[in-house]
Amino acid sequence: MMNDECGMMNQNGDCKKGNGAAHNPFARMRRRDIKKRTTGIIHRGRGYQSSVYLVEMEGQRGAVKDFSRSPRLFRRLVAPFLLLREMRALQRLQDTPGVPRLYGRIDRLAFVMEYIEGTPLADFKMGELPPEVFPRVQGVIDGIHQRGVAHGDLKRRSNLLLTPDGEIFLIDFAAAVIGGRRLRPLSNWLQKQMAAIDDKSVPRLKKFVAPELLTQADRDKLDNPTRLEKWARRLLKR
Ligand SMILES: Nc1ncnc2c1ncn2[C@@H]1O[C@H](COP(=O)(O)OP(=O)(O)O)[C@@H](O)[C@H]1O
Ligand SMILES: [Mg+2]
Repeated sequence: MMNDECGMMNQNGDCKKGNGAAHNPFARMRRRDIKKRTTGIIHRGRGYQSSVYLVEMEGQRGAVKDFSRSPRLFRRLVAPFLLLREMRALQRLQDTPGVPRLYGRIDRLAFVMEYIEGTPLADFKMGELPPEVFPRVQGVIDGIHQRGVAHGDLKRRSNLLLTPDGEIFLIDFAAAVIGGRRLRPLSNWLQKQMAAIDDKSVPRLKKFVAPELLTQADRDKLDNPTRLEKWARRLLKR
């Protein structure tokens, strides 16, 4: 665990906590600091992808997600919205087990969050994941759903990390949908539909690396498209 305990953060990335402000060295990070503070490149984004940098400040580690090198039009029109969407989801999920803590917004193309030392589940092959990992993944997914957030991109196994302690973390909330809000019937509905898709993640994972663990309920989930998937298929066929 990181030792910085930022309970709440306002839009400026300032930390607020009931029992006095906790220190978050990344709260006021600016774009010019990224280069100075980078100690490693976690992910070099290609095309529309973001780049993710390992940064260090006052002995603490953070991960900067940055879209500043993406193609111009995408950078102007799409990236800021993806970033905002992800930051909102992380903010809503502050203190949820298995979700990186949001440390602060840098500008409209970058933010900084807790660095998770872990291996993407995409790197594991058949038989390489211990069986206790699967209920843990489901536990984290249930946790975010209970807080009204659907992840929306768990099909990509690179968005789930396994730490050396055996903990599971979800990353990449760019497609997340927040539900459970008043006067937002469409988002609330979409969040429920996306949550049903998130729930296919563990069966899919088992199918890849441990098919012997698939239960009948898992098979049913794999065989039956969710309502949203059916709609999407119908639309795409046209
Ligand atoms: N908080 C983090 N801690 C450690 N590694 C991370 C973190 N966030 C992202 N990464 C790494 O960077 C990669 C790309 O990040 P991601 O948020 O998935 O961006 P993209 O939208 O390009 O898929 C991830 O697959 C993961 O390896
Ligand atoms: Mg990703």
